[in-house]
Amino acid sequence: MENKITITIDGQEVLANPGQTILECARSVGIFIPTLCHYSKTTNVGACRVCVVEVENARSLVAACCMPINSNMVIRTNTEAVRNAQKMIIELMWSSGDHNCLTCEQNGQCELQNLVYWLKIDKPRFEIEAPGYALDNSNSMIQRDLNKCILCGRCIRACNEIQVNEVLDFSMRGSYVKVGPAFDEDYISSSCVFCGECAQVCPTGAITFKQAKFAGRPWDLNKVRTTCTYCGVGCQMDLFTKDNKIVKVMGNREYGQPNEGSLCVKGRFGMDFVAHPDRLKKPLIRYKKNEDFKEASWDEAFTFIADKLSKIKKENGADSIAGLSSARCTNEENYLFQKFMRAAIGTNNVDHCARL
Ligand code: FES
Repeated sequence: MENKITITIDGQEVLANPGQTILECARSVGIFIPTLCHYSKTTNVGACRVCVVEVENARSLVAACCMPINSNMVIRTNTEAVRNAQKMIIELMWSSGDHNCLTCEQNGQCELQNLVYWLKIDKPRFEIEAPGYALDNSNSMIQRDLNKCILCGRCIRACNEIQVNEVLDFSMRGSYVKVGPAFDEDYISSSCVFCGECAQVCPTGAITFKQAKFAGRPWDLNKVRTTCTYCGVGCQMDLFTKDNKIVKVMGNREYGQPNEGSLCVKGRFGMDFVAHPDRLKKPLIRYKKNEDFKEASWDEAFTFIADKLSKIKKENGADSIAGLSSARCTNEENYLFQKFMRAAIGTNNVDHCARL
């Protein structure tokens, strides 16, 4: 085991592991340092500098998210110099975009908005120069508004390092720099697979879920953790609902396994079936060939199935029956199904579709 080292943060002695960053050490003892470009499980790039802190004997303020600690380091997170720098950074970000919170889907959960409030900034001291980019409305799942992009690069790292889709990157140079797919294509023309990770990690309203727009403010939504029903992986997700309808789906990061907060296109955007009027909610039975299906009660359906299976088994043996289950069932349901086939029917003819 590596030897611990001692550092001091805001007068508090902290025992830490060599190699940890200042940010990690501060968070481990509940000291708040604001961040924007930092996103755990991706590379620390130190792009936004909003996490600056004072380190005794350092020539200038340092970015806490990417500065490793040294033994006996003395760090101050809340001095006047630190706050002035943070205010300047946030004001520059604010003034270089069109951060119109009135219509922004992220209002109430925007990390830039939160920091403006936390730093008590009334308005930026610089003239607002919104870049005037056109909205990317090219698809029905993700909306991109680069006027609200703060160039933190979280979406790029999430796309490349977490999902490994390698669709997003910075393009252009200087004040023209922007984030997007290659050749400045819109999402639908690019190689984007619509996992939605970019929208999940975006700290502002630059990349948002389109179906969530005007469907409910963050404080109107209920959050329910559930398991994705699409395949056997069992990804953990949070459904955000309003009036019993799913407004948006986020990967659950707290629970961790198995997906560690990430989702694929199906789990993220394929949830319309839950409230679809065509969804079957009651059993349908076709009693005679060429007849239409008729709605039935569950008791009727189970009796019908049991009678038919018993008759087939009696006349042709258990191995004349096979059962196909589904990857969309839970592990427990699939376990019960194979148990039913083996123990109740008496056959090993059981399989399931491992995909959809
Ligand atoms: Fe540290 Fe952006 S959070 S530089």
